Amino acid sequence: MKILSLEGVCKTFSKRWVALYNVSFALDSGEFAFLVGPSGAGKSTLISAVLAQIPIDDGMIAIDGEYIDNIPRRKIPYIRRKLGVIFQDFKLLPDMTARENVEFALRVCGYPKKLIRMKGNELLSQVGLGHKALVYPHELSGGGRQRVGIARALVHSPLLLMADEPTGNLDPHAIEEIMELLLSINKQGTAILMATHNIELIERYNFRVLELSEGNLIGDRPSRHESREHKSEGSQNDSTQWNLPEI
Ligand SMILES: Nc1ncnc2c1ncn2[C@@H]1O[C@H](COP(=O)(O)OP(=O)(O)OP(=O)(O)O)[C@@H](O)[C@H]1O
Ligand SMILES: [Mg+2]
Repeated sequence: MKILSLEGVCKTFSKRWVALYNVSFALDSGEFAFLVGPSGAGKSTLISAVLAQIPIDDGMIAIDGEYIDNIPRRKIPYIRRKLGVIFQDFKLLPDMTARENVEFALRVCGYPKKLIRMKGNELLSQVGLGHKALVYPHELSGGGRQRVGIARALVHSPLLLMADEPTGNLDPHAIEEIMELLLSINKQGTAILMATHNIELIERYNFRVLELSEGNLIGDRPSRHESREHKSEGSQNDSTQWNLPEI
């Protein structure tokens, strides 16, 4: 089962800057893939397009088998719940504690208060920050902030986690920690698409590598793992522990 499919996706900014040109690829559920390419290659644009944050000019994008380009705007939040995203600069709310940052993503969906508190604590524990629930982002290390970002990205038990250069602002020790965390999330069934410039990580982890250059997909190197577990059937996340009731 494909969790993400792009078919001939094109995006030009201001009628001049070609950010994506005829990009086609698909990700299996549970797969881990790196997205690489020089600055300006189109990596962040691709992630924004999948999140339906920017309209594409041509082509089609499907998430878990559902095409997102023609769906009514009111349905977009439901599609987004299948996705999680983390960023290089974490994008945490500075005036909120770690737990409030995670809870915020649930509050906007109107879940009951008790459930929100429970999930907030649970997710922070899962990323190893159960004891730091009440601290503010500026009191955390870069690795700690990214863990909060990851906890927030997991609130809807996403089928696909997209990471836009998630280790770009981190020291080597924190990079290791965050990669281990992403790998454990992937092992539990969440597909991961990770944009990165970090050649060392790409070579070490041997996952599939999608390469963009000036908006074109110029390379698609398969995973070098002999038998990846991502062949699991069905589109549901294998993990039951992150499941929230649909509202
Ligand atoms: N909002 C925008 N308006 C105009 N042009 C844009 C916009 N966003 C991106 N671009 C252009 O689209 C192209 C792709 O940019 P994008 O940010 O996707 O690259 P990237 O691969 O993520 O680069 P980096 O590695 O530096 O993050 C660039 O030429 C960029 O200038
Ligand atoms: Mg970028």
